[in-house]
Amino acid sequence: MIKPHGSDSLNPRLVSANRAQQLRAEAESLPSLLLNSAAAANAVMLGAGYFNPLTGYMNLADALSVATTLHTEDGLFWPVPVLNLVQDIAPIQGASRIALRDPNIEGNPVMAVMDIEAIETVTDEQIASMAEEIFGTVDADHPGVATFTNLGRYVVSGAIEVLSLSYFQADFPDTFRTALEIRDEIAERGWQKVVAFQTRNPMHRAHEELCHMAMQRLDADGVVVHMLLGKLKPGDIPASVRDNCIRKMVDLYFPENSVMVTGYGFDMLYAGPREAILHAVFRQNMGATHLIVGRDHAGVGDYYGAFDAQTIFDDRVPADALEIEIFKADHTAFSKKLGRVVMMNEAEDHVKEDFILLSGTKVRQMLGEGIAPPSEFSRPEVAQILMDYYRAQNG
Ligand code: ADX
Repeated sequence: MIKPHGSDSLNPRLVSANRAQQLRAEAESLPSLLLNSAAAANAVMLGAGYFNPLTGYMNLADALSVATTLHTEDGLFWPVPVLNLVQDIAPIQGASRIALRDPNIEGNPVMAVMDIEAIETVTDEQIASMAEEIFGTVDADHPGVATFTNLGRYVVSGAIEVLSLSYFQADFPDTFRTALEIRDEIAERGWQKVVAFQTRNPMHRAHEELCHMAMQRLDADGVVVHMLLGKLKPGDIPASVRDNCIRKMVDLYFPENSVMVTGYGFDMLYAGPREAILHAVFRQNMGATHLIVGRDHAGVGDYYGAFDAQTIFDDRVPADALEIEIFKADHTAFSKKLGRVVMMNEAEDHVKEDFILLSGTKVRQMLGEGIAPPSEFSRPEVAQILMDYYRAQNG
């Protein structure tokens, strides 16, 4: 099986139930810090093994180094700083060991215990330069930049032991999986060549066909649909609705036992190319041998070129940095001439009008008005779930 990133075996930071009980008792007498959602999401990813081999939050030097060079100071390949940025350090001033509290669960239970390596101040200039590197922009209208630049100006670094994976297991019992659980299931199924599909959307025909094409062309044993279950920007479709759409589509349109429908607990960064590399790192950690990267992967608005998330793998990822391979896909759409979904660059003698192309905005508008997009774009059963959701939303 493919090795995790940076170590021979996967070392999730989630502790055993016994250890969690001990830590919970200890935490009662520790100073505690209420995490922001981004830092809590990092804790979930560290706990679930997706951020292997990291053991905790990065210090400022590592964060700056990762932002500019994609390597920590020690030379570990890593594409996006994993930070605990804090606004107010008064509650933990002078402490060496602290409890980290979950902002996303009522009562803010302890989700991790941390040994503080350092508490450092980060300047506005350093935040801006990291934002520029990670997101390719400092535009405050970019949802990732807006979040990142407002998290705080203290970097609280150090290793953590994770007690809980927040609300994900309770809210998505059938879908949320740790990297270790996915590895185990891949091994149980005996899959060798495994394609991961990242998504934050309900899966339309283009998404579906990307998975079929990758399976066929790679002669893969199966696909792991791995959906984002954490926070998205306003207007994006909630995870439970996407989950229903994806399960319906997989049930109806994929051969039995060829797809694992799973999810992970992380907030969307909208960092396009850099996020695509992070996606590759954590899909390798969960045991996938390939990751599909299509058009405008992890993008938002017009901030990235349609295929920047593919070319970055050639430009910024050293050949020996990752074992997982990227399945690069061109813009995929239904060809009226051929009567099937194709990669547009493979459809000879086609002009734009030969394809069924709908913008995300147009699709949302149609669904909101109770109009199903054409079946060449969305499976009718998927469209129905989405129309029901929008109808409930609109009262
Ligand atoms: S993402 O933010 O998670 O990347 P989305 O769920 O829409 O957004 O896309 C999931 C994957 O499918 C990404 O790799 C994306 O590039 C790819 N993709 C989505 N739609 C298309 C399309 N029409 N053509 C090619 N690739 C696509």
